[in-house]
This record gives sequence, C-alpha cells and structure tokens, in this order.
Amino acid sequence: MVGVQIGSGSGQVLSLEDSLAELELLAETAGIDVLATLTQNLETINPRTFIGSGKVEELRLLAEELGVGVVLFDEELSPRHQRELEEILGKSIKVIDRSALILDIFSQHARTREGMLQVELAQLEYRLPRLTRAWTHLARQAGGGAGRTGSVGGVGLRGPGEKQLEVDRREIKTRIARLREELEKVREHRLRHREHRRKTNVPVVALVGYTNAGKSTLLNTLTNADIYVADQLFATLDPTTRQLELPSGQTIVLTDTVGFIQKLPTQLAAAFRATLEEIAEADLLIHVVDISHQNAAQQKKTVLETLLEIGAGDIPVITAYNKVDLLAPEELERVRQNLETQALLISAKNAAGIGALLETIGRELFSAYVHLDVLLPYNQGHLVSVFHEKGHVQKLEHTETGIRILGYLPKELVAHFAPFQRKLSGK
Ligand code: GTP
Repeated sequence: MVGVQIGSGSGQVLSLEDSLAELELLAETAGIDVLATLTQNLETINPRTFIGSGKVEELRLLAEELGVGVVLFDEELSPRHQRELEEILGKSIKVIDRSALILDIFSQHARTREGMLQVELAQLEYRLPRLTRAWTHLARQAGGGAGRTGSVGGVGLRGPGEKQLEVDRREIKTRIARLREELEKVREHRLRHREHRRKTNVPVVALVGYTNAGKSTLLNTLTNADIYVADQLFATLDPTTRQLELPSGQTIVLTDTVGFIQKLPTQLAAAFRATLEEIAEADLLIHVVDISHQNAAQQKKTVLETLLEIGAGDIPVITAYNKVDLLAPEELERVRQNLETQALLISAKNAAGIGALLETIGRELFSAYVHLDVLLPYNQGHLVSVFHEKGHVQKLEHTETGIRILGYLPKELVAHFAPFQRKLSGK
C-alpha cells in the first residue's frame, strides 16, 4: 500500500495512518493481503508518477523483493499515473487506487438488478479514460475467486480479463448508454413501488451509518430477517427493506442502506443514487455508530456530512451507539455520561437496548398521532378513505352497523371522527 500526505494534511478527515488502516480493511475485503506499506509527505503531486522518483525506486525494489502482484494507492490516481507507474514497476504488477478497489468490492457484493447495473456502469465509466492500459486479472493475482461480471462488465479487476482488452472505446460507450436506459427503467419501477408505499402511508425508517457499523446486524435483530452480515466493509450494497411491527402496534418499514465511507469514488457517489435517494425519502433515520471503533467520532462526522449533501439533513435522526458489548465498563460509563438526547446505547449483536430503541422510534414517528378506535357507519365512506390516506390502520373490520377501524390518526383530524369514537386510549 502507498499512502501520501499532501501538505500538512489538515484538510483530511482521517490521519494518514487511519486512512491506511481503512484501506487495508478494504483490501482484505477484496481478498488482497497487505505485505508492506510505504508513505510519503508531498508538497505537490508528481504529474508523472504521483509520488517522487526516489520513492518510486524504493517502491520498485520493495515490490520486487516481496514479489507483490498489486500496488495499492490510497489516493485517486490519474490514468497517466497508473500507466507510468506500471511501466516502471513492470507489467506483472498492477497499480490500482482506492476507487478501483472499492469498485471491485462493490462488483462482488451487488445483489439486486439495480445494484449490479449501477456497479457495471460505474466500472465502465472508470475504465473509459484508462482504456489504453492493458488491464489484467486482479482476482488471479490476488488468489481470489472469480466474481460476478457483466459481458464487458468489470473494470478489469474481476472482469473477464483478456477478453476485455478486445473491447474498444466505442463498444463501451454503447454499453454505457444501454446501461443508463436499463437503469432508468429499473428506477421507474422502484419509484412506482415507493409511490405505492407512500399511499399506504407506512412510515419509512432508514438505517444509516459508516461501513461495518452494524446496520445489517441491527436490521436482523429488529426483524429476524436473514440479511448477509459479514465482518467486511460494504457487505451491504442494496437497500434492503423489511416491514416491522413496533411493540405499540404501529407498522413501519425499515430499510438497510449502503455503508458510508470517506473518499468514496466520485463515480460511485452518483452511481449509488438509488440507495441515497432511499435515505432522503425516509421519515426517520437511525444512525448506527460503532462506538467501539477508535475513529467513531470521525466516522459519525462523515456520515452526517454526507446526509447533508444528499438532502437528508432535515430528517430526524436517532443515534444508536452500537457494539457497547465491546466497551470496558469505565468506557461505557463515560459514553453514557455524555449521551446526547435522541441517542441510545445498543448492542445489535446481543440485542441489548433494542426495546428502548423501538420505543424511541415509535415516539419519534407517532407523537403527533392519536390512537383511535372508531365505528364508521356505512354512509361515512369518505372518513374510511381519510383514515387510510392520512392515518395508520391497524385493524379494519366490517360489522353490521359499519366499519370498525383501530389505528392512529394525526391529532388535527381527530375532531372529524369524534362522533364515531368508541374509546380514546390516550397518547
Ligand atoms: P456494511 O454492509 O459494510 O455497511 O456494514 P454494516 O453496517 O451493515 O455492518 P454489519 O451488520 O455487517 O456488521 C459488521 C460487523 O460488526 C459484523 O462482524 C458484526 O457481527 C459486527 N457487529 C455488529 N453489531 C455488533 C455488536 O453489537 N457487537 C459486536 N461485538 N459486534 C457487532
């Protein structure tokens, strides 16, 4: 791995050391073992080789000595940097950057149709300006298994290797255009679904958080859903949605989202609009923070900044400090003392603090609602529609004298239903 500090590094969210630790985790996730790390402080980037020529020589000797297959840069390299570096290091060594690595991980983990299309699109867009380079097969060099690929799909890391070299710029452009069209169709379909969900008026709660914070584990614990949980970065790539009944009886929709990370490749920020859109549409966010992580504070900051960027800054947030089972008692006490309002301590793995979390969700979503039990005569059909559209119907029963509905209604509408009310359960 090669890490570079440019200037004083004061503008960086993570220190060079922490950023490299994260890159190493990403590498592991992609099936690459890190054998050595080189760092350099730079005032300006070398236009040819990114790092200085002395450092390149040091890198060449070290790579040769260790017999490495891949040199991984923490910074985004231009196509020229990659080309020049590979020429110097020798054709058997592949030079890749953080973006290519993340794209590679994404291509292994995307599971829905939309996710796969988006990853392929992002890979091709990344590949287009780098077409002159002969990409070889990272999976083979890294000893990893063959991943999923599109026909001209992969960025070349896990793609069909040699065959990709035959694919010329024009073909890729055509494929990009086709992918965009297909994506648009899939997206329209998803929007129709969402519209349907909005009509039924079930509130949407999105789990957000830095990658590996424990979102999928929490979703599993909350819903017993069998979503892929792994101690890897970016195990989740697609929004995964489950329905959940709160202990108080209201139904909500809970959705898991892709993990946030600093230095997300620019192509991906756009490509993963789907997941991000899902977040911006939510009624409530649960921000899962791995409080046992040494960089918990920076990770939290990165997530909050990203939420602002995608227009989700106004959505109420409950902060769930996760993995408290890993904290020493005095550390746990310190966190507890400094807990802000709308924040909870949980362990998704041990299901600790889950009851309090569900209660807080209910309070946050339904405090403006009143629990009602009404018997609406058959000539009051419009009130039945109002209840469906504006409220949350828990139970509906056709009786001889009318339609009985049990559920939640916004406070301001209760007056219309007062004549038909059976009992008011408070709240
Ligand atoms: P991405 O898919 O990368 O966004 O990750 P995620 O936020 O969905 O994390 P995930 O649920 O996959 O959990 C990551 C790792 O943390 C897994 O190894 C989990 O078992 C572990 N983990 C999650 N919650 C807890 C917890 O409360 N305590 C402990 N000790 N480990 C946890």
